[in-house]
Amino acid sequence: MSQGKFALTINRKPVSVTTDADKPLLWVLREELKMPGTKFGCGQGLCGACTVLLDGQAVRSCQTPVSAAAGHKITTIEGATALPQGAKLVAMWQEIDVPQCGYCQAGQILSATALLMANPKPSDEEIDAGMNGNLCRCATYLRIRRAIRKAAGLADVTGDAA
Ligand code: FES
Ligand code: FES
Repeated sequence: MSQGKFALTINRKPVSVTTDADKPLLWVLREELKMPGTKFGCGQGLCGACTVLLDGQAVRSCQTPVSAAAGHKITTIEGATALPQGAKLVAMWQEIDVPQCGYCQAGQILSATALLMANPKPSDEEIDAGMNGNLCRCATYLRIRRAIRKAAGLADVTGDAA
């Protein structure tokens, strides 16, 4: 492992960290920068709990070495509402009361933000495909889809109360 100094831009603020080049961004955020909003789930790229945005794309911070994040714009849940899509989603998340235990929700909101940035009016199939990699042990999927639909200005769907 090689130590290095890495210049990151996190939620529009420049930050510099000295650490191992291979250290996953997840652990740089949580341990070195004391930003616990990004969650550790599987650590293997399977659950999406650690999702952050890298230049507007949803990435798994547990699989992204800090060296690969340097020089890119990183958005974490702490900065999600600075993006118009993130702000709308968080408002709808609150209105619909999406979370159950809450553990997966930061990753869900950031994946949804990336989805709406790329596709402002997604179909239900596109929402399901875009959110496919984010697992929720509490099965809040229907409320998540409803919140995304409302944030996108799409008609609410009755019967999706689960
Ligand atoms: S903790 Fe990164 S995908 Fe599960
Ligand atoms: S709300 Fe509990 S894991 Fe998704």
